[in-house]
Amino acid sequence: MRTEIVKIDEYNIDRKELQRAAIILQNNGLVAFPTETVYGLGANALDESASAKIYGAKGRPSDNPLIVHISRMDMVDELARDISQDARQIMEAFWPGPLTVILNKKDIVPKGTTGGLDTVAIRMPSHTIARELIDISGLCIAAPSANTSGRPSPTTAAHVAADMNGRIEMIVDGGAVGIGIESTIVDLTGDIPVILRPGYITKPMLSDVIHKNIETDPAILGFDVANDVAPKAPGMKYKHYAPKGDLSVVRGSTQKAVTQRINLLTADKISQGFRVGIIATEETKADYPQGIVKSVGFRELEMSISSGLYGVLRDFDEDMVDFIYSESFGHDEFGQAIMNRLLKAAGHQIVEI
Ligand code: TXA
Ligand code: MG
Repeated sequence: MRTEIVKIDEYNIDRKELQRAAIILQNNGLVAFPTETVYGLGANALDESASAKIYGAKGRPSDNPLIVHISRMDMVDELARDISQDARQIMEAFWPGPLTVILNKKDIVPKGTTGGLDTVAIRMPSHTIARELIDISGLCIAAPSANTSGRPSPTTAAHVAADMNGRIEMIVDGGAVGIGIESTIVDLTGDIPVILRPGYITKPMLSDVIHKNIETDPAILGFDVANDVAPKAPGMKYKHYAPKGDLSVVRGSTQKAVTQRINLLTADKISQGFRVGIIATEETKADYPQGIVKSVGFRELEMSISSGLYGVLRDFDEDMVDFIYSESFGHDEFGQAIMNRLLKAAGHQIVEI
């Protein structure tokens, strides 16, 4: 299959081009498109044969459910039942935006889309291209991140093309995404909302809206949880992306100490003949005299770090480094979500100083 790449300006959308993408979706084809978090790989969510194609193109295990993307609030009631007051308030407050909610599904949603579950993940993205595409197609669009299963989510159309070229009909290139890590997932099927995946929408932001304690699925915290605790979001249980180079995160009370330690570790490995990569920031990149240094973004601008992270990890795979040392970034709640992805990529290897 030939994959067509169509550039669309999110601030001046060419509706004719988007119409072509919509027709592919209506004919049960696959179209990758930008959202405010990462690029999604879209198909008609209410047709099992269409969502089956997503699993094929990604090489995704069939028990890992897809997120259904919508563009209007009334679409939720077509897909889900037993929607609580809390759930309504949360959706009103954060949609359109980088939040996915888990609700009990109605029969209209095929189990082929929900990985066999009786619940459905729903999200209303804020990216104008995503919303227009859903609107024009008149469909609910199932869209996981548009990467090959096991690779970092794509934050540019070039990342999508690297994984999906020849496997899907079209990639809508709307430029680099803003947030760069996947949406927060919150399970709203019980009395207490539970965060299944951390993201840009944080626990305090959610509890501010419903004035209730919000829990976090213990299985995603990673450190002190027994291996037999299964995460409630099936996708979180699969072996996470790990870069080809052996990645460690260096953590310390001052940036100076972290930089010094990374320089020591780097010099040591280089003296043994290894290739070393360093994940730094704009503020610190000049402080590393050795190794292949890549900046994820500006330390003072957390969103630049989240949007740069996956791209840097992909780049290092191409550079064939043996070891990667990364600064750590998380100081507030959103920083913790970024660190969640980085630590998973590092298999929780931390150099604590
Ligand atoms: O930001 C995002 O959410 C991106 C963009 C494209 O919208 N999408 C995304 O989809 O990250 P994906 O498929 O890569 O991740 C979806 C996660 C998986 O971990 C999956 O197991 C979980 O959501 N999930 C989906 N439906 C679920 C359900 N009914 N119950 C629990 N977890 C669910
Ligand atoms: Mg994904």
